[in-house]
Amino acid sequence: MTAVALQIAIDGPAASGKTTVARRLAKRLGILYLDTGAMYRALAVLALQTRTDVDNEDALLRLCGLYRIDVRLEPAAPMGFRIFAGAQECDEATLQSNAVTAIVSTVAAHPRVRAALVQEQRRIAGCAAVVMAGRDIGTVVLPQAPLKIFLTASVDARVSRRRGQLAAAGVDISVHRLREEIEERDRLDRTRRVSPLVPADDALILDSSALDAEQVVDAICAFVPEARL
Ligand code: DC
Repeated sequence: MTAVALQIAIDGPAASGKTTVARRLAKRLGILYLDTGAMYRALAVLALQTRTDVDNEDALLRLCGLYRIDVRLEPAAPMGFRIFAGAQECDEATLQSNAVTAIVSTVAAHPRVRAALVQEQRRIAGCAAVVMAGRDIGTVVLPQAPLKIFLTASVDARVSRRRGQLAAAGVDISVHRLREEIEERDRLDRTRRVSPLVPADDALILDSSALDAEQVVDAICAFVPEARL
């Protein structure tokens, strides 16, 4: 019997701490990590650069065909993986810029765009053990993953975390604007027709409002031995 590589799905709303937790968890377990939001963001970068209408699904799909969104999982890279839009490598400041954040939920709402990126995400997960963070990893991308975490946190906790992350990446934004933006992205992610943000039936729901990243990783690690069986 061939052993299937361990897959851990971490889903949750914007700024719930998924990416920090997923990356630290992967490091602790010595496995790879991918933040799938970066793939939707890379496509949003391309849309901005080519002045593509983000409501036009056909045009976005053409972009995906012209410039492949390619990820390479490299734990030593600044984000834990490298991501390319065609020949261009995208860095964290570009992916997290206000302009990209403003349009990414619209980009990610198109079913055929999602299908193209999900196919790539599954291919990656088939190659090696991985912790994958996103919105639909447990429900759609890797429904067979043996460990699924749905990470939540209060809006206040998420605003304050996101502010810290953005400041570290050199992006300045007011608390008021950040709150509006997070609430709007929650609404768009939760109400979209395709792959809305919902916990998988078999996901463990973890509220991280009062926990730091290490505590969340500790809590998840307690379930890993079972998932490895
Ligand atoms: O996690 P993030 O903020 O970088 O995600 C950016 C956007 O991409 C977010 O608005 C929802 C979308 N997304 C998604 O629809 N499915 C995923 N698996 C990951 C992100």
